Amino acid sequence: PLTAKIDAQDHLEMGGCDVVELVKRYGSPLYILDEVSLRTACQQYRDAFREYYQGSSQVLYASKAWNCLAICAIATSEGLGIDVVSAGEMYTALKAGVNPQLLYLHGNNKSVDELSYALVSGCTVVVDNWLELQTLDRLAKEQQLQPRVMLRITPGIECHTHEYIQTGHLDSKFGFDPNEVEAVLAFVSKSSLNCIGIHAHIGSQIFELQPHQDIGQVMIGWFKIASEKYGIELAELNIGGGLGIRYIESDDPPSIAEWVKVVSAGVTTACEKAGIPLPKLLSEPGRSLVGAACITAYTVGSSKTVPDIRTYITVDGGMSDNPRPITYQSKYRAVIANNMSGALEQTVTVAGKHCESGDILIKDIRLPKTEAGDVLVVLGTGAYNYSMASNYNRLPKPAAILVADGSASLIVQRETCEDLIRQDCLPDRLRL
Ligand code: LLP
Repeated sequence: PLTAKIDAQDHLEMGGCDVVELVKRYGSPLYILDEVSLRTACQQYRDAFREYYQGSSQVLYASKAWNCLAICAIATSEGLGIDVVSAGEMYTALKAGVNPQLLYLHGNNKSVDELSYALVSGCTVVVDNWLELQTLDRLAKEQQLQPRVMLRITPGIECHTHEYIQTGHLDSKFGFDPNEVEAVLAFVSKSSLNCIGIHAHIGSQIFELQPHQDIGQVMIGWFKIASEKYGIELAELNIGGGLGIRYIESDDPPSIAEWVKVVSAGVTTACEKAGIPLPKLLSEPGRSLVGAACITAYTVGSSKTVPDIRTYITVDGGMSDNPRPITYQSKYRAVIANNMSGALEQTVTVAGKHCESGDILIKDIRLPKTEAGDVLVVLGTGAYNYSMASNYNRLPKPAAILVADGSASLIVQRETCEDLIRQDCLPDRLRL
């Protein structure tokens, strides 16, 4: 995070707050989000599009990375729209006060209720498949509305990232196959839907620039076909998200500005070649906005040394608050917040407290000597940590706080055991 420093007591400080003190006050595990980092990333995207793209543009925050009221509010206050993928995300964004005109609903199996909710609220729907197209058209006719929609098209672009987070290749569950697009446009031209543009997303945690540059080339052709053959004037092109972030030293992602420059050039060149005006360019980054802005603070507990093999140190969370290592073999860095300059004397494996051998947050990391009670901080946990957190082993989800200018505010309360049984029902005949 941009505001991270080491203070006079050799403690990690972020947003002007001593992380060790924050853990004393709010407990652990604790997600700590740096407001300056988040706002800066939003501004970098916004400013880079202004600089490198001659047409109009709109950045949307892909809120699946971390959807909560406070983050939706921050992204909105920086002029971003929000990409949502469920009624729950849409509800949260609307409750945060996001203008529905800047809300885009995604998803490859939206329910009828979700579609109705989007229609009534005035959100744009990014249509993924035939069933949805037909359902939406029926709902629009019933409600005498002309909803704004975009069409998600599988671009057929491969990129190098974990197989689970690739989405642009043809063998993907998302979007219309390019072979179907003309039939879709024909349907749309006779429907009640107001088709404003098209969308493609190729995957996540991507460091290469070429695949994103290619999106323009692949997608711009549809603008001409839609207009000339089907009378549909597409105005917006959404190129998705996917820029990766640095998790470990050896990660070397391009900067936000470089990414924007390249995608803008890709779209601009394609438009020049096709002789069509620049569309409004939308992008929807998630990870690169929020990922590096957050850390997770844990308290170190037990440890175990297996002679000649490894030393485990265990923290008070794990795969329930950060399922990424066990799901994608993701790598993270960590520091000891109460001993920032200590010599890196030991190689340890940081394990979580779950009943699962694979519940390892970091394998083989060099750290200073640790003891129970130390505050271990994992860096870069803003994206897909809280949003993918679970209650495995009935661990309550951690609290999240926002730090800025030396003060901390709670943005998500810590769950309690009472919260955990809130949805449980005990039929009378089972009462003990
Ligand atoms: N737009 C669409 C349509 C998406 O599906 C995604 C991510 C994004 C935008 C944002 O991508 P980003 O800028 O965050 O890379 N849980 C996985 C990541 C799944 C990404 C899903 N879609 C992980 O923890 O790595």
